Amino acid sequence: MSKHIITQDYQVNKEDRRALNKHNSFLIWFTGLSGSGKSTIANVVEQALHKKGVKTYTLDGDNIRKGINQDLTFTPEDRTENIRRIAETANLMVDAGLVVLAAFVSPYKKDRENIRNIVKDVNFVEIYINTSLEECERRDVKGLYKKARAGEIKNMTGISAPYEAPENPEIEIRTEEQTVEDAVQFIMNHIKSKLKFSDE
Ligand code: ADX
Repeated sequence: MSKHIITQDYQVNKEDRRALNKHNSFLIWFTGLSGSGKSTIANVVEQALHKKGVKTYTLDGDNIRKGINQDLTFTPEDRTENIRRIAETANLMVDAGLVVLAAFVSPYKKDRENIRNIVKDVNFVEIYINTSLEECERRDVKGLYKKARAGEIKNMTGISAPYEAPENPEIEIRTEEQTVEDAVQFIMNHIKSKLKFSDE
């Protein structure tokens, strides 16, 4: 970063926007293997929040990689850059007063720690969607595991690239033991106090 860049201050700030929205803003980050159920659960959580009048936005790996991050591959360096850009984007959205949901494999612990630093600990909820590789491979919704086993896809998380499971996530969901509805209820209960509705 150039030392000649000086931060500009604006009169309308994050607290003003949160007050106008009548709720807090923060980032809910879903991490887990491809096919673990991150997007499915994020989608239903967003619907539940929307119904409560919460202003939300969801960032999803598969969508973001078709747009802003279409120049990135699945090498460790590119995944780090993928997550860094998303964390910075999410940080702007939290500043804009939104509850942001993000569903990314995000396999590296250091990259997830970096998100926490960018958005600040208090604005970050890490959710580990814990589904075994065997189950993800059995589901293989996108057919990627089959291709990875056949050597047609390189750097596939769980097959030819690592997944570093979170050790202390705020929430852990075991999709092989819990229904989507139960998982969403559990998440909603956990984030209720964080929403800080000002008219309740
Ligand atoms: S991340 O590792 O950089 O966080 P991201 O969440 O953006 O990954 O993208 C993962 C999605 O890309 C998966 O859900 C899957 O559909 C697709 N994908 C394609 N190739 C790979 C691969 N080699 N490893 C993991 N996911 C892949």
